[in-house]
Amino acid sequence: MARRAKKGRVLVLCALPYTNGVPHIGNLVGSHLPADIFARYCRLKGVETAFIGGTDENGTPTEVSALELKITPKELTDELYEVHRSIYEWFGISYDNFSRTSNPTHHSTTQDFFRVIYRKGYVSEGVQRLPYCEKDRIFLPDRYVEGTCPVCGYQFARGDQCENCSTLLDPVQLVNPRCKVDGSAPVFKDSGQLFLELGKVQKRLEEWISTRKAWRSQVVALAEGWLKEGLKKRSITRDLRWGVPVPLKGFEGKVFYVWFDAPIGYISATKEWAVASGKEDEWKGFWLDKRTRVYNFLGKDNIPFHTIFWPGMLFAHGGFNLPYDVVGLQFCNYEGDKISKSRNQGVFCESVPEAGLDPDIWRYYLIHIIPETRDTDFKWEEFKSRVNNELVANIGNFVHRTTTFAWNNFGGEVTRKRWTAEERELLRRASALAREAEGLLESVHFRDALSRVLAVADLGNEFFQRKQPWKMINENRSDCEEVIHTCLLVAEQIGVLLQPFLPGSAKKVLDLLGTDDRSLAKARKPRRAFKIAAAPQVPFKRLDEDQVQKAKALATRSRPMKDYFAARKGPGSVAGLDGL
Ligand code: MF3
Ligand code: ZN
Repeated sequence: MARRAKKGRVLVLCALPYTNGVPHIGNLVGSHLPADIFARYCRLKGVETAFIGGTDENGTPTEVSALELKITPKELTDELYEVHRSIYEWFGISYDNFSRTSNPTHHSTTQDFFRVIYRKGYVSEGVQRLPYCEKDRIFLPDRYVEGTCPVCGYQFARGDQCENCSTLLDPVQLVNPRCKVDGSAPVFKDSGQLFLELGKVQKRLEEWISTRKAWRSQVVALAEGWLKEGLKKRSITRDLRWGVPVPLKGFEGKVFYVWFDAPIGYISATKEWAVASGKEDEWKGFWLDKRTRVYNFLGKDNIPFHTIFWPGMLFAHGGFNLPYDVVGLQFCNYEGDKISKSRNQGVFCESVPEAGLDPDIWRYYLIHIIPETRDTDFKWEEFKSRVNNELVANIGNFVHRTTTFAWNNFGGEVTRKRWTAEERELLRRASALAREAEGLLESVHFRDALSRVLAVADLGNEFFQRKQPWKMINENRSDCEEVIHTCLLVAEQIGVLLQPFLPGSAKKVLDLLGTDDRSLAKARKPRRAFKIAAAPQVPFKRLDEDQVQKAKALATRSRPMKDYFAARKGPGSVAGLDGL
């Protein structure tokens, strides 16, 4: 067993994106960015943290996309893995391991997981009526079938899930099923499959959900809704080739259902990370030690899988940690409308770097539109005004005027001799706001946490303005030094607090101030002396209208999927339906 971690451990997991598309801004703010802020916060707190993600590469979504692009699933996933990885890296998403579910560790971990639940009697054999295409003589993937949702009546529900009401579906349940490619009605044929007996874990799931008091109410409400309907067995195998093979006699040639193997990816990627970092057993500390807290970040369409299906699998297996919090986020729209790639309606991550702005400028605004409790909207007007009025005019201005003043008037060296009651009071209020910010980070409320950092800068600016150091410097140099010392302490507080949000900028500020101890959640003993080593640079520059227009023109272009593969199209790379 892994050694004991002093302050406990936190495992931060972000839902694994499919490799059938390139992330847009809504995907980023709907899971990766909040997960990153939280992971960074945990590390700063001094808690042992692993931040794990990766691409969800198996099964239908990949096969269908490869089919449409006339390439093999492998060609598709190799390229898109790299696209995803580099996008998250650009935005500063600090994954400890961004893995792939096509990796060997994942295949073996999934098969081992299956063997355990099979042996324990949670898997049954049965036949399933599956949509079958007579013309192509293949079973159609769930997502290839579309029809009317039996629950809400939505006409374009997919065979696996209704996008309108989130209900998990089976293609047979659809009213008026039709094939997504040619619109013809599929026939239904029997096929032998394996099923997870969710009914056997219903009681345990109910008990567990009822103790999840701190979860967001919408997440609990959804989970309770499904439990109330009663859980039915659900098939965990598919008649496909691209995926994790089922290691059971009689099921050769079939693979696991993508939602069966994907969440196991959280475990395999943790293992992989532990091995790569030379601490092979360390993954056990994260998955087997009951004191570890597991946080899952995901979009609302993923909530049923993370509150019912995956915990159900975990109950069946036994031993592994359940999610401590399921942070189910809502959707982010674009200028009042749904994000749509085909209509170039949205901000598309692959084009964002070309817009020429610092990643932290994006992060600053994006944090405001993390859909924590309700759907949000990306708006260019608001992007500009928040960056200019808050980040530049408030936070940046305070840090810059303070450090520049110290540099110009004290050669960068500022030492404290005594304290006034007013200064103590100011620092007390700044610390109180810092504690509030930390509490909000702890409870996964990032927007509010960032607003407290802004409030600290407000305090600082107000103090600077009131004291008028530019006058004091000529009247009483020593009093002036104290005022600037106080302001530097506040600037340092801001730098420390900004780290989970704007890592690059926070580092610049703290480097400038020569801050050694950058950890959070510590009674920060005020430093007596500052020594600024170089002439301060403006930390954030104002966005003018031209820059915003240029960013808008560039970042709203989406690169068609086929362009990623244009270069390699040639004979031999056509998979066609045979690839299934
Ligand atoms: N690939 C899924 C999606 O994009 C999410 C999978 S999350 C995991 O909706 F739990 F399965 F990993
Ligand atoms: Zn529906």
